[in-house]
Amino acid sequence: MRQAVMTSPGTIEFRDVDTPQPGVGQVRIRIERIGVCGSDIHVFHGKHPFVTYPLIQGHEYAGVVDCVGDGVEGILVGDKVTATPQEVCGVCPPCRRGQYNACEVLKVRGFQAPGCAQDYVVTEADKIISLPSGFKPEQGAFVEPVAVAVHSTGQAGGDLSGKNVVVSGAGTIGNFVAQACTCRGAKKVLITDVSDYRLDVARQVGIEATCNVSTESFADAVKREFGADGFDVGAEVAGVEASLSALVANIGKGGTLLSIGVFEEPPTVDMSVICEHELSMKGSMMYRHEDFEQAVAWIADGSIVTEPLVSGHFPFEQYEAAYRFIEEKADSTLKVVIDLD
Ligand SMILES: NC(=O)c1ccc[n+]([C@@H]2O[C@H](COP(=O)([O-])OP(=O)(O)OC[C@H]3O[C@@H](n4cnc5c(N)ncnc54)[C@H](O)[C@@H]3O)[C@@H](O)[C@H]2O)c1
Ligand SMILES: [Zn+2]
Ligand SMILES: [Zn+2]
Repeated sequence: MRQAVMTSPGTIEFRDVDTPQPGVGQVRIRIERIGVCGSDIHVFHGKHPFVTYPLIQGHEYAGVVDCVGDGVEGILVGDKVTATPQEVCGVCPPCRRGQYNACEVLKVRGFQAPGCAQDYVVTEADKIISLPSGFKPEQGAFVEPVAVAVHSTGQAGGDLSGKNVVVSGAGTIGNFVAQACTCRGAKKVLITDVSDYRLDVARQVGIEATCNVSTESFADAVKREFGADGFDVGAEVAGVEASLSALVANIGKGGTLLSIGVFEEPPTVDMSVICEHELSMKGSMMYRHEDFEQAVAWIADGSIVTEPLVSGHFPFEQYEAAYRFIEEKADSTLKVVIDLD
């Protein structure tokens, strides 16, 4: 089978390797689509702090079950599936309390363990998420980033009925966070970015209130959309200090800040506001199995729309061209999809 290996930053080699065989309790998936995300690009640029090369990338994928190992029940050859990419220990304190997404020795396939950039992947049956028969392959590849949004918005308590929300950052994750807030009943969601293209895509998926913070003040947009009520939940999904500071400076008293973006530089935060305004701050690390299931359900019933985020498709052999495309068109791309079939 074909396999794409990043041998060093910026270099992808294609190899022909043996197709892996599923062992007891394992399933083999024939990969159809792989989504490329910002973290993959960081690896491509040699700027990801927690990876070593050579590395097989790919953690957002969908495919079809091709072979089932002994002892696997309820998963059949031909099923459309995706799978969670985390390898966890099961015995550390977070794992023991069910918070295995924050496992002390977490390895994520595509980063600290081999990913899915190959024709077939073998994984444990308990990592498999079944997809509805009507799912398009690229919808399956979107389940992973949508699950990030499901988990992080769940960190705000799950039910957002009656709440005003600001999502700061309208990349793929921010877009899905905004949509997930609507799914959870938010009264109104304002999304901000510095890119008109990304805000336009947000409007295409139904998030009508937008603000380009490079041309309008954040505070003015909050007043325009929420009036005197202000906002109750602020989701930081840009990973930059200016975005976090704007949320902290404008969120209502007693509000909840969701920290989702990964900061390249440690940001400076005015902690006095957290104290005086009695704010709650919640971090969010990836997702758990049930978040993948909720993501599938929301995509399947149309509550979360993925199609407007697709910026292009590239065949497997052009993996590197896909990365170059994202580099060149950083301001006008969201999700680029690799097609294996
Ligand atoms: N916590 C998790 O589990 C998790 C999972 C996946 C990704 N992430 C992180 O979430 C963040 C978003 O991911 P993404 O793939 O959407 O990345 P992205 O880079 O596509 O999106 C970030 C967006 O923030 C915008 N931005 C920049 N400055 C801004 C500002 N001052 N105000 C508002 N927006 C601003 C950018 O224009 C961009 O559109 C990244 O930091 C990523 O590493 C976290
Ligand atoms: Zn990703
Ligand atoms: Zn653990």
